[in-house]
Amino acid sequence: MDFYSPFGPMIAKLRLPPAIVARINAYADQVVSSDKSTEVLLPREFVAEGGEQSLAHHAAKLVRRYLARAENSQADRVDFDLFWVVSQYAGTPSPVHFHSGDVAGVLYLKVPDIDEAEEARTYVSGRQAGYINFLIGGKQRLSKSLVSFKPQVGDFYVFPGWLLHVAEPFRGAGERRSMSFNAVVGVEDA
Ligand SMILES: [Fe+2]
Repeated sequence: MDFYSPFGPMIAKLRLPPAIVARINAYADQVVSSDKSTEVLLPREFVAEGGEQSLAHHAAKLVRRYLARAENSQADRVDFDLFWVVSQYAGTPSPVHFHSGDVAGVLYLKVPDIDEAEEARTYVSGRQAGYINFLIGGKQRLSKSLVSFKPQVGDFYVFPGWLLHVAEPFRGAGERRSMSFNAVVGVEDA
């Protein structure tokens, strides 16, 4: 059987160099709480620091690769609105939301030890505990409306800013830490 499922928004999974992940973690270690959930903005100077090796430069490169593959366009401009870090402990939800800007990204910086029984549990709706879930539209027969990914350190998801997503609270030890951004892009058709 051949199977075609050609519709819907494009979600890319990429990797940022480990040195960048380590640099963001070193900064975040100083500003997030060590025992309760917090959210902090990354200062512009930190994002731009390092020239060719900066977070801004690497993130822009990956956004360009995403646009080239997802819509065959060349970005002549990638501007970032905000970069922020979300640090979460057991029981904290990230309610369903979308981002401003054209393209959004989320990078996983730390992952908790999710309780095994909890990880095996799938909500009635199909959402999985501790995972990131992307949702589109309402539920319709023979049309997938939800996709769920398990966070891994260094994984970087890039997706349309309007795409709804949600992270269920996890049960387990440790911190789930992620960095997100909003990007505004100017594109020319290739
Ligand atoms: Fe988000």
